Order: sequence, then structure tokens, then C-alpha cells
Amino acid sequence: MELPPSGEAPVVELWYFEVGAAEVAAATAFLVGEELEQLRRFRSREAAARFAVRRGRARQVVAERLGVAPGEVVITRQCSHCGDPTHGKPRVAGANLAYSASASSRGVVVAVADEADVGVDVEAADRRAEMQVIRMVCTEREQQALSRVADEAARSRQFLRYWCRKEAVLKLVGVGLPGEPRLVECTDVRDDEFSPVSGIAGSKTLWLRDVELDPAVIAAVAATTPAPVEVRRRGDAFRKSGGRRRGRVSAR
Ligand SMILES: CC(C)(COP(=O)(O)OP(=O)(O)OC[C@H]1O[C@@H](n2cnc3c(N)ncnc32)[C@H](O)[C@@H]1OP(=O)(O)O)[C@@H](O)C(=O)NCCC(=O)NCCS
Repeated sequence: MELPPSGEAPVVELWYFEVGAAEVAAATAFLVGEELEQLRRFRSREAAARFAVRRGRARQVVAERLGVAPGEVVITRQCSHCGDPTHGKPRVAGANLAYSASASSRGVVVAVADEADVGVDVEAADRRAEMQVIRMVCTEREQQALSRVADEAARSRQFLRYWCRKEAVLKLVGVGLPGEPRLVECTDVRDDEFSPVSGIAGSKTLWLRDVELDPAVIAAVAATTPAPVEVRRRGDAFRKSGGRRRGRVSAR
């Protein structure tokens, strides 16, 4: 499944799926083997729904990009903290393609790119931010910026933007939240195009931006290149890896 470099400029493709009963059923059809076992073990219905849509749609999006069946996609993980192969940043075995997936109670996002790495995060927009959490994860500049927002709902929203930006970078780098959210300074990040971010130990300059997907969610994507971002939804056509558009096939 190793793909030659396409020679075309990379694009970061973002697939957005609203979480609901029909979507959970559709996405579950793409799960295989151990994923179905994991799904059965969830006690919380909501957590199970998020898992099914995140895993199922990630598998489908990657499979369509590679032109293989969802069950043929081999996803490997290895925790950068303890080395465990059952958790950590997911990678597609044998392909010049990276993906990142995130789930909230309202929607799931899958970011995928050829020849570039990505990290993505989405949160339900109506979550409330507590001061204790703000102090734990935000830099001094971020805390100052937040303290200037008088309205509590607007402050929570701004905090969620920072949170998504931080998680997107930490997921791109592969360390997750133990990678220390305060190392990612978010105040200068733009909402409409990629801004450079540095400061994460051992990483080159990364690129970070917000993405508007749905008023019910807040989301951000980080990438190793400031490539154009294309947003797609259920029913839209898939791109094939290498930039060739497939056209006929859509996310049912
Ligand atoms: C990754 C993390 C930031 C995601 O948080 P979340 O908001 O609960 O969940 P999201 O839906 O946004 O993202 C989950 C997805 O992140 C991805 N992910 C998990 N760990 C990751 C990591 N270290 N780096 C990059 N991506 C990661 C996975 O794709 C996962 O979904 P999947 O398991 O279905 O494939 C958070 O769970 C975390 O930091 N985990 C790592 C904890 C850790 O490493 N502890 C040490 C263990 S020894």
C-alpha cells in the first residue's frame, strides 16, 4: 500500500459527521474485529456512539482515499509515553497518508492528508470552562486574554478555541494531553488560515488554524504544512490519495 509521492500540492481534507442514531449505524458498518469488541464493552451509550463514529468514519475515509476496502486498512498505534501498541497516535501502515480523528457529543471530525501529518480536535460549543481548568492548561497570555472577556459564555467559547488548538497540536506531535497544553501558545492563531506555531519540544514549525464546521462545535486542525483545507460532509465525494478525485463515491 506504499504510495509514490503524488507531486501535487497537499490538501488537508476535513470530514465532519453529526452524531445521531442514523450516523452511528452507518459508521458502525465500517468497524472491524477488535473495534466491534471494544464497542460492545462501552457502558455509556454516548461514549459508544462517539467511538463508533470516530473509528468507523476514520476507517472509511482512509480506505476511500487509498482505494481499498475499510477492513484492509491497517492502523497501528504506539504510545509515545509507555510504548503500548494499543493506544497512542494512530498511523496508517504502509501509506504516505496521515489521519487524525476527534469526537464530541455533537460531531466527529476526521482530518486526512497525503505526505503531511495532521492533528485535529473538536468540542461541543456549549461546554462551560471552569477557572481551575483554564489556569491548568492556559499560558499567562491566554489567561490574560480570557480575563478580558466579560461574558461567561463568550469566555467559555474562547477557552474552547484555545483548548481545541492545543489538542490539535498535541495530537499532531503524538504526545496527547500529557505533552503539556501550556507549551502551545494559542493567542496569535488565526481562525481563517494557518498560523505557524513553535515551542513543542523536538518538533519543527507546525501550522494551526480553527475550522468552522457547524455552530454546535468548535474545532481546530494542526498540520506539518500550511496546505489548503477542504471541508467535506456526509454525501460529499471522496478524493483519492494523490489528489485524483473519485467523484462517484460518496460518504453514505
Ligand atoms: C488523545 C487525547 C488528546 C484525545 O482526547 P479526547 O478529547 O478524549 O478524544 P478525541 O475524540 O478528541 O480523540 C481521540 C483520538 O485521538 C487519537 N489519539 C489518541 N492518543 C493520541 C496521541 N497520543 N497522539 C495523537 N492522537 C492520539 C486517537 O485517534 C483517538 O481516537 P481512536 O482511539 O478512536 O483512534 C487524550 O485522550 C490524550 O491525551 N490521551 C493520551 C493519554 C496518554 O498518553 N496517557 C499516557 C498513557 S501511558
